[in-house]
Amino acid sequence: MLTTTAPKGLSELEPVTSDSLLALIALANADSRPEKIDVGVGVYRDGLGRTPVMRALKEAERRLWEAQSSKAYLGGAGDKVFPELLKPILLGPHASDERITGLQTPGGCGAIYLAMQLVRTANPQARVFAGVPTWPNHPPMIRGAGLEIVEYPHLDRGTGSVRIDALLAKLDEARPGDVVLLHGCCHNPTGADLGPDEWDRVAEVIASRGLLPLIDIAYQGLGRGLEEDAYGLRRVLDASDEALVAQSCDKNFGVYRDRVGCLFVKTRSKEATATAMAHLLQLAREAWSMPPDHGAAAVRLVLEDDTLTADWKAELDGMRLRIAAVRERIAASDERLAFVADQYGMFSMLPLSKEQVVSLREKHAIYMADSGRINVVGIADDGIDRFCAAVKEALNGPDAHG
Ligand SMILES: Cc1ncc(COP(=O)(O)O)c(C=O)c1O
Repeated sequence: MLTTTAPKGLSELEPVTSDSLLALIALANADSRPEKIDVGVGVYRDGLGRTPVMRALKEAERRLWEAQSSKAYLGGAGDKVFPELLKPILLGPHASDERITGLQTPGGCGAIYLAMQLVRTANPQARVFAGVPTWPNHPPMIRGAGLEIVEYPHLDRGTGSVRIDALLAKLDEARPGDVVLLHGCCHNPTGADLGPDEWDRVAEVIASRGLLPLIDIAYQGLGRGLEEDAYGLRRVLDASDEALVAQSCDKNFGVYRDRVGCLFVKTRSKEATATAMAHLLQLAREAWSMPPDHGAAAVRLVLEDDTLTADWKAELDGMRLRIAAVRERIAASDERLAFVADQYGMFSMLPLSKEQVVSLREKHAIYMADSGRINVVGIADDGIDRFCAAVKEALNGPDAHG
């Protein structure tokens, strides 16, 4: 029987259950205690708690301001040189593969969005295998494209490492053409990355079962290093004839609000890739027409200049080393947190119950997601000892995580 629902006007829209991280930001902003520590934030912070514009970027922006003579439209693919300059950094030996092309997108989100739309266009029956947990924006983007999600286990909370056997067992249930969404490096929210051997195994299963890998890489250079962080996606490209890589420069160039990203697509032939690219341009045209130029133009200027590129790499490496150093200090503070030193990128999930998270907030002005996810570099250098002591107290407290 056909069920009809009464039409609703804009004024009758249901309230949105707000993203808990946004609610957390509001709570943290409203707290005026000077000792406040915000580890819920999703951006890199230096030892003084600042998120500065990177040196090379600042210089590139200055040059851009001086040299740019027009802001006329660039077209749906954005800056066509920009993905070409990213290719060697991201794809390594695959940079010269004519079956791989990329287009500029508004950040990593734009790239993931387009990837999902392309999958739906090619194969609406495809299911998307996504980890538990994964970045909270992944599931709504998958569902938003009308695709079904199948969850695979990712994190072993006891050890803070990847449940590789359970993950592979789940992928054995996938049908040819199903999508496997993987974080290229610096897993958000867990920090639990696949090691090289694990990537080898995953790449082999994806290829042998005819699955379509979608690698989301938003933090290249902030984990083990620029080259090392690309190991997994390059292995997947070695093994698979078809792949999607959603890339973001927002973190590793520190251009978050400028929305700089890229989607790369690989198919079985140069011609098929050109057809896929034509679909992507059409899909982008329907969504945002063309990506914002400024950030990508500045990144392009950095990558076109050897001195600026070297400076960018040096500063990025400094950021990576700070992340690793804070991880070491947290890990050394309590054996229950030792796993934090073996993880990568800005995020880790501490073994705290929701009650403990709330007590850290109320008693110590320490703000983190209810899941226990922290951004290790949300803490300025002078707050690390206090943070560790407060977490230790919470771990010893009455609400210990079961
Ligand atoms: C795993 C992951 N993918 C993609 C993104 C998208 O980044 P952006 O759209 O800001 O470039 C993020 C940002 O937090 C992320 O954590």
